[in-house]
Parts: sequence; C-alpha cells; structure tokens
Amino acid sequence: MNVEKLAQTAQAMVAEGRGILAIDESSPTIKKRFKQVKLESTEENRRAYREMLLSTAGLGEFISGAILFDETLRQSTSDGVRFVDQMKEAGILPGIKVDKGAHRLAGHPGEKVTEGLDGLRPRLAEYAELGAEFAKWRAVITIGDGTPSSACVEANAHALARYAALCQEADLVPIVEPEVLMNGEHDLDTCFEVTEATLRSVFAALYEQNVLLEGAVLKASMVISGDRCPNKANLQEVAEGTLQCLYNSVPAAMAGVVFLSGGQTEVDATRHLNAMNQIGPHPWPLSFSYGRALQHSALKKWGENPADNVQEAQEILLRRARCNGQAAMGQYEAAMESA
Ligand code: 13P
Repeated sequence: MNVEKLAQTAQAMVAEGRGILAIDESSPTIKKRFKQVKLESTEENRRAYREMLLSTAGLGEFISGAILFDETLRQSTSDGVRFVDQMKEAGILPGIKVDKGAHRLAGHPGEKVTEGLDGLRPRLAEYAELGAEFAKWRAVITIGDGTPSSACVEANAHALARYAALCQEADLVPIVEPEVLMNGEHDLDTCFEVTEATLRSVFAALYEQNVLLEGAVLKASMVISGDRCPNKANLQEVAEGTLQCLYNSVPAAMAGVVFLSGGQTEVDATRHLNAMNQIGPHPWPLSFSYGRALQHSALKKWGENPADNVQEAQEILLRRARCNGQAAMGQYEAAMESA
C-alpha cells in the first residue's frame, strides 16, 4: 500500500472547485435511463453516449474524476483512443465501479446487501493495470416500516470496509458509498437518524479493517425528506441537517466527502451543495459525485438526435459541471444557469 499515492489521489479527487462525474450505470440501469429518452441500450449506443460526455472540451476544469462501469473502462473513442487515456489527457482521473449490485438480504424482507467481495482482489489488480486510480462501492439503505435493521446496516458497513481495505492494498482510492435512499414518506429527522447510525457503523467498520481515512473518500447521501413526505424540509434545513450529521459521524482525517444526487433535480442538487459550502469552512472538502444531476438534461438532448446534438448536449453537461464546481466553493448563483 502506497500511503502517499493514495492520499495524493484522494486529495486530487476533491480538489477545490472540482467534483466527480458518476457515469458508472450498470447495464440494467443505463437501459432504464436510455428507455426514458427512447434509446436502445446497445453496446455502441452506450459507447457513443459515454464518448460524448467524456469528450466535452473543458470538462476537466470542473471534473476531477469520472466513475466508469467495467465495459466503459475497456472501450475507446471512435478514433480508437482508450477512454482511460483520453481522460488522463484531460486531467480527469479514471475510476471504476467494482461492486456487483445490491441484492436481497436473506432474512430481512425489503432490505438489500451489496455483493462483490468474492474475487475482488484479482479484479482490482486488473482495474489498476487498466489505468483506474480509484474505485466505488455502493451500499443501499432503505427507510421503511421498521427498516433499516441493524443487521442490514452492519452487513453493508462490513462489506464497504472490506472493499475499502482491498482497494488500498491495490493502491486504488476507495469511494465508500452508503446511500440512504430518499424513497419514502419519512421526514428529515428520520433520514438524519438513519444516516447518522449508518455513518457511525461504516466508520467503525473502516477502523476495524485498518482503512486509511486520508486515502479514502466518503460518498454520502444528503439528509433530506423522503420523496413522498408531505412536509418537505427546505434548502437551509437540508444543508444544516446534512452538515450536523456529518459532523457527528465523519472523522476529520477523511480526505473528502462527495454527495450523490439520488433523485434530486439538477438544480436542487447544486443548491444544496452550495448552501453547505456557504456555511463552511469544514474539516473536509465537500463536493459532488453526481450521476443523474449531471447527466439528466444532457442525455435528454443527446437522445433526441445522437448524430446532431453532441455539441448541445456537451454544453449542457459543461454548464452543470461548472455550476456544481462553483457550488463546491459556495460560489454558485442562479444566474449561472443561463450564462
Ligand atoms: P446519482 O447522483 O444519480 O444518485 O448517482 C450517483 C451514483 O453514483 C450512485 O451510486
């Protein structure tokens, strides 16, 4: 384990005014996203779409790294340049999703545990060989009637910690992602409680497995009302609740915290991040690792006409990346949406 390299990479991932582009949708997920814009999920469509995103001129100013799916890590541009090489040229670190998805947790109806630890060591070695600098593993915590159970939280925390230790052994920075889903009728206080319990369990497990916090990045969900909650918390409540929750449970040694967007609108995700960074300074850089909140409008535009709309879609992506880059410094303004 190269401690210095891990710490350097982790810091680069959360460098000032930059964040992470999550384009690591698994095959079923990208199929769902493509279906919404009436595109067929063929290997060539997926390649062309990711090429459109990654070829955006100037993206590296706001995007420090991009998380890829296995297939994309092995693909190339239409000119035959490997995506990994194109990214490094643009100053964007290549990352790789390494979990094998969230599956039903036996004995706990409605709850999930993320799989993928078996055989992970050789897979990580291959990814490092292919040029990956960091990895991602996502655990899913569902808020519901009597859930999450401590069994679910602990099983996921344990898997995240074992994954993180294996990553660091291979000199890959682990993104540790325990996502508390926003689906449900629950209020902000419930989300706060579940998120704090989850984070405390994750950091206890990371400690147990000897994970170097300086060489790891937390990908957190915001403390937010459920999507079907009748009285939704406002911007300031989300920002303050999320910060309090992180302060209660995330050691200051952690290299950085990035947020997932989790179904928030593009502009909400930006405004929430901005509000948190206006309150700072914080012990860690607070930035973004958005999937949908960076891609949604760009995919829509590209899907209307993949042959002709490349440039327009790239402009849309670049604007979202710039707005979020500003939000990571607490300098976002609504006027930037039309600039
Ligand atoms: P969203 O921002 O769309 O939630 O995706 C981020 C991600 O990578 C989830 O694992």
